[in-house]
Amino acid sequence: MLFVESIQMNLSSYSSILARRMVQCEWNLKFSISPLLFSSKKSTISIAAFASSSELNGASISVAGAESSSSIPFFRDSPISGSMEQVMVEYVFGRKKATEVAHYVWKHIVQKGDAVVDATCGNGYDTLALLKLVADKTRRGRVYGMDVQKIALESTSSLLDQFASPDEKELVELFVMSHSQMEDIVPNDVAVRLVAFNLGYLPGGDKKIITRSETTVLALEAAKRILAPGGLISIVTYVGHPGGREEFEKIEEFASGLPVEAWNCCKLHTLNRPLAPMLLFLFKR
Ligand SMILES: C[S@@+](CC[C@H](N)C(=O)[O-])C[C@H]1O[C@@H](n2cnc3c(N)ncnc32)[C@H](O)[C@@H]1O
Repeated sequence: MLFVESIQMNLSSYSSILARRMVQCEWNLKFSISPLLFSSKKSTISIAAFASSSELNGASISVAGAESSSSIPFFRDSPISGSMEQVMVEYVFGRKKATEVAHYVWKHIVQKGDAVVDATCGNGYDTLALLKLVADKTRRGRVYGMDVQKIALESTSSLLDQFASPDEKELVELFVMSHSQMEDIVPNDVAVRLVAFNLGYLPGGDKKIITRSETTVLALEAAKRILAPGGLISIVTYVGHPGGREEFEKIEEFASGLPVEAWNCCKLHTLNRPLAPMLLFLFKR
């Protein structure tokens, strides 16, 4: 609730800029990488198999504050620095991406020791960002990560090998599975602070393997059930690929139908880039 209010304040202070830049903001009262295993009921694969794919896999999805792989040392600490205010202004100026804004919002919700879910690991940038937010000496934090593609988890594993310490990696569990099954892997007694979705296809991968509206909605339902009060469902969704628009509309329908007494749901979108990613936050009061 607090973070939403703070964003609202930032938005009103920069309303003239917002108007000029035509950015729409609708507030609709609304990886332990187990050292040995990637687990799944159907697939269990050795992490050793991933050792060969160790290149940083492009930066089409970047971690907040790291515009390119030249910012690599940044990952050693927190990939998310600076303030929410700064990132919102940079977003308005077209210098920050939706994914980066998402990472900053996460910083306002996620605390050290929290349990979080990366529902679409892909190349692992979001997984890494989440890991840096939850990891500390207590080693209580957990990142449950999943993807339907083994190659995506290989990429995620590789990124973590490079930018997370062995102790941090132990806080990540990766599963080759659909996010609609997330309840199968998060223990019942774990209060999840954040579930992150970054939908669509794997950058640099097979563009035919995409998230689908039916399973995405099932996953949102599951996320809704496992999320702790004060937790956040964060969604970056894309409309430029086949099925993307429909998926976005289903998500919007899902979010719009959540009761205002229990949820605050909002959307951020650049108006004059019709194919720009949509950023949605569903905050559980
Ligand atoms: C845009 S990418 C995610 C990017 C990633 N979060 C990152 O930081 O690099 C979308 C991913 O969703 C995965 N995906 C597609 N359908 C899925 C499903 N039903 N459950 C989980 N992941 C899925 C794809 O394989 C792809 O890797």
